Amino acid sequence: MQQFEKHFRESMKSNIPLLNIITNYLLRRKGKQMRPMFVFLTAGLCGEITPSSYNAASLIELLHTASLIHDDVVDESYERRGFFSINALWKSKVSVLLGDYLLAKGLLLSVKEKEYELLRLVSDAVREMSEGELMQIQKSRKLNITKDEYFDIIKKKTATLIAACTACGAWSASRDNTLTEKFRFFGEKVGMAFQIKDDLFDYQKQGFIGKPTGNDIKEKKFTLPLIHALEVCPEKKRKHIIRTIRKHNNNAGKVQEIIGFARTYEGLEYSEDKMFSYRDEALAILEEMPDNQHRKSLQDLVNYVVERKK
Ligand code: IPE
Ligand code: IPE
Ligand code: MG
Ligand code: MG
Repeated sequence: MQQFEKHFRESMKSNIPLLNIITNYLLRRKGKQMRPMFVFLTAGLCGEITPSSYNAASLIELLHTASLIHDDVVDESYERRGFFSINALWKSKVSVLLGDYLLAKGLLLSVKEKEYELLRLVSDAVREMSEGELMQIQKSRKLNITKDEYFDIIKKKTATLIAACTACGAWSASRDNTLTEKFRFFGEKVGMAFQIKDDLFDYQKQGFIGKPTGNDIKEKKFTLPLIHALEVCPEKKRKHIIRTIRKHNNNAGKVQEIIGFARTYEGLEYSEDKMFSYRDEALAILEEMPDNQHRKSLQDLVNYVVERKK
């Protein structure tokens, strides 16, 4: 990861002073860096970590960072990684352009290193991510999302990028299509568990995870705990809750009422069960691989995804 750090810093470099101020801020407030870890551990398990593995990890972390910067503009969210988001400090204009800049740097890195297969894998994931975010906006306008639609959205907006990490890791080490596909599938399961966990955070108290909670309801974003509760509660209650979200999504007290409602109808337990079954599917795939240190670390990382506190 220390080697990666250098590679990643290099990939962001610019001659424009404002860009360097902001990218330095980004590098100091780095996230969990789970995606690069998935790239390297999968590569290690599938063969050997190569220069391509570093290219893949930087490319993905660049695009991930760009997508979070844009996501915070889209969600009007002012906190990220325990501090102010880019849009809170530099406003939307700068955030949009910075996201574009990082995206372009990722494309340039791939072309410079002639990593066309990695570029194809990752660009496909980013296309799906944008589709998923747009589907989510469409659903939040109509307030009528089903569980199947929810799973489809989180697969597109989150799981596909994590699947790209593990696919790229496998590809960078083995150049083997079968292994790459196997690990894409593995990453997709991990990604599903990851986003369910992220959505569960929204139902926690403010102040622990480094980004706002209750924000999904404010944005009229229906996630699994709420969808489940709405499915099992009496019809009258359902109508009342939907009306409350439609009209009072900006009222903190009402948001708390919705959170209480999801808890009462066991939306949190239901979501955790789903999350654990995705984790188990992922772990089962690892069982098919040789038992070594890389496999052990990947198992730890999968468990971290569902147990993490931020
Ligand atoms: C946040 O991802 C975006 C989602 C897909 C939910 P992470 O939680 O991995 O973000 P950082 O990079 O650690 O901040
Ligand atoms: C994650 O979506 C961002 C992308 C997948 C692009 P969310 O809006 O659910 O994630 P957080 O909670 O802001 O990190
Ligand atoms: Mg968001
Ligand atoms: Mg969002």
